[in-house]
Amino acid sequence: MAMIISNEELVPGIYVMKIEGNYKGHMGQFYMLRSGRNYPLLPRPISIYDIGDGGITFLYRVVGEGTRQLSLLQPGQELQLEGPFGNGFPQIEGSLALIGGGMGTAPLLLAAKHYQKSHVYLGFAQQAFGVEAFEAVASSVQVKVGGSIVEQVDPAGYTTIFACGPTPMLQALALKTACTSARLYISTERHMACGIGACLGCTIRTHAGNRRVCKEGPVFPVEEVQFDALHGV
Ligand SMILES: Cc1cc2nc3c(=O)[nH]c(=O)nc-3n(C[C@H](O)[C@H](O)[C@H](O)COP(=O)(O)OP(=O)(O)OC[C@H]3O[C@@H](n4cnc5c(N)ncnc54)[C@H](O)[C@@H]3O)c2cc1C
Ligand code: FES
Repeated sequence: MAMIISNEELVPGIYVMKIEGNYKGHMGQFYMLRSGRNYPLLPRPISIYDIGDGGITFLYRVVGEGTRQLSLLQPGQELQLEGPFGNGFPQIEGSLALIGGGMGTAPLLLAAKHYQKSHVYLGFAQQAFGVEAFEAVASSVQVKVGGSIVEQVDPAGYTTIFACGPTPMLQALALKTACTSARLYISTERHMACGIGACLGCTIRTHAGNRRVCKEGPVFPVEEVQFDALHGV
């Protein structure tokens, strides 16, 4: 069990939770979190948002019972936490763009801290959140509320792009990147049960064969991804 230092609502329905301890993990990896109550039985995968200063931080949106239970936890209370899991984003050289949509901005903050010369593009449907954290570390941050953040990106200007967000956003970005030399890596999502590659519940079809999102993913080079396999999480 791990102790909660803080669990604050950033904007309605979006929380930042900091947990005490020294944790491992790098950009794009995730932990499995469970509130410690009896229901729901299964933990929920949440990306590492930040790590260090005696704790690990998660940014999450309340969408169902698991995340609602997390949002009710108070400082001083405990929760179950296991990880880090998944492959995370690769180490790269050259110019980098980080493109996040909505909650897909969460796994990109560590990348922005790691690659401080990267250009960050953040898109939100209705209300921006967490932008200041990126502005504190990145050399350039562009934000769009409503519409598509992909319109603001010129993929040809980058060696590598890391992206996470809704499937239509990732698909639009893949199309725009296809005729450039930029290497695009996308972080994908599936419902998860075990998080460690044992249950096969998160398996998706890819052009390289079946892949477990929790083990071989969640980050894949875009040329491996079959977007029709990502719809309907
Ligand atoms: C590798 C990985 C990293 C993630 N990182 C984060 C993160 O940093 N912050 C965060 O807020 N969320 C993140 N998620 C999504 C998060 O795991 C789900 O929102 C959570 O499991 C929902 O649990 P719940 O019990 O609240 O909702 P449930 O009761 O399980 O679901 C409620 C509703 O939300 C839908 N839903 C559930 N999961 C998803 C999903 N992944 N995408 C779209 N709709 C979904 C369900 O279909 C259902 O309609 C991540 C998921 C993965 C796989
Ligand atoms: S969640 Fe069990 S194999 Fe991925």
